[in-house]
Amino acid sequence: MVKYSDVQFGYHGTFIDGERKLSVVSQVFSPWHDFTGLATYATERYVDVGQPTSLSHPQLLAEGEITPGITCDEYISRRKRLLELLPEKSLAIIASAPVKMMTDVVPYPFRQDADYLYITGSSQPGGVAVLSEECGLCMFMPDPDPHDVVWQGQVAGVEAALDFFKAEKAFPLSKMHKILPEMIGRASRLFHNIKTALPSYMELEAFRGASLNNKVKDLSRYTHEMRWIKSPSELKLMRESASIACQSLLQTMLLSRTFPEESKLSAKVEYDCKMRGAQRMAFNPVVGGGANGSVIHYSRNDQKVRAGELVLMDVGCEFHGYLSDLTRTWPPCGSFSSAQEILYSLILETNKECVKLCKPGVSIQQIHNYSVQMLRRGLKEIGILKDETSYSYHELNPTSIGHYLGMDVHDSAMISNDRPLQPGVVITIEPGVYIPISYDAKDRFRGIGIRIEDEVLITETGYEVLTGSMPKEIPHIKSLLNFAHSTATEVPDLSAVFS
Ligand code: GLY
Ligand code: MN
Repeated sequence: MVKYSDVQFGYHGTFIDGERKLSVVSQVFSPWHDFTGLATYATERYVDVGQPTSLSHPQLLAEGEITPGITCDEYISRRKRLLELLPEKSLAIIASAPVKMMTDVVPYPFRQDADYLYITGSSQPGGVAVLSEECGLCMFMPDPDPHDVVWQGQVAGVEAALDFFKAEKAFPLSKMHKILPEMIGRASRLFHNIKTALPSYMELEAFRGASLNNKVKDLSRYTHEMRWIKSPSELKLMRESASIACQSLLQTMLLSRTFPEESKLSAKVEYDCKMRGAQRMAFNPVVGGGANGSVIHYSRNDQKVRAGELVLMDVGCEFHGYLSDLTRTWPPCGSFSSAQEILYSLILETNKECVKLCKPGVSIQQIHNYSVQMLRRGLKEIGILKDETSYSYHELNPTSIGHYLGMDVHDSAMISNDRPLQPGVVITIEPGVYIPISYDAKDRFRGIGIRIEDEVLITETGYEVLTGSMPKEIPHIKSLLNFAHSTATEVPDLSAVFS
């Protein structure tokens, strides 16, 4: 970390009320060209690296952390490990995520690419990170012009790359076309993050030559391998993310009887997640009332939930780079119809049986196969499937039982669902049934969508349900909804809910 005392000589600041207040202009024309300035207009004596640091945001980061909860040492060991996994004399190129525009000058909220964040710790756009045995981490950093700094604020530059992100080397992005070809020339193999690949390096003669010689491969096979098993500090962030999502969904469930409207429930869960410290939602919440719940990734969230209908909410939030993902389905009116209860019980039993299967050595695919058997049998018994082997099953549930979860919702996608699970992996278990209105079944079953999704951490001895605090048993849901709606004088027995 560059201290104020180390850098102040480079600035032409002005003193206001006895404090040095640095104007943007003084930073822009500072002889210190990398733009790692002191916080714009701030009276605090810390360097602004374009994202929270332990000095600027002591409420978020402890000393020695590059991002909340993840230390500099952990970032350095990730870089070392990636180099160990890659073949000898490899060069890895990882670009940050692109900024997507809503209109001409208005960007969508920026979300960093998970691989770039995992390796560098930078949550800012515009950088390209290069990793090799020979150079260590080399970061090409954006060169903001004065206009960008005035309109968008300070961003990390070369100095921040070296001093804050602890890169071994750093250069302005404008020099990449000169420096990177030499680095590529010295490497035997090239890896890059295909998801965020940029013309600025792919169009370099050296990169194109390597590509023609079949020396360029996707890096994500290696990064996903590393991200698949979470470290203790990552698990702490995952637990917090899950806890925030559970608390927020519980509050939303309590409100649903008074405001059974998809848009309001979506607003409520997002508000509650952010009030509890989440930076953003992990994905647009699915809030499907009635038949909308049978649309698996329903996103319109603009309809009323009618009396007697279920609402399905699939939500998750992002807590300092780590995501949660859970689903509950309930009747906002406080009571299940018999058809809803029959189907709900089947999905709940499948959820609980599949959670129990989670342990090292078992794969998502094996759990999936078990869930399909259980659902086929149950749906046949209920009379919705004509026979257990019927192809119509896929119309009622085309989804997998779950996926890996971490810095992305469908995390470590390069790792097959056939891979035996290991301690430190987090997966979701999300059985569901989605009966289209047009499906050939008794009327009372049509248009019902139910999913019950939990996050499960694989431990040495089995599993831990990270979303276990969110009720899913029918009596618990009923008690909560009816308690939320009852008068102060008629308080029902909630002991079962909190036991
Ligand atoms: N909850 C989002 C998904 O699993 O696809
Ligand atoms: Mn999911």
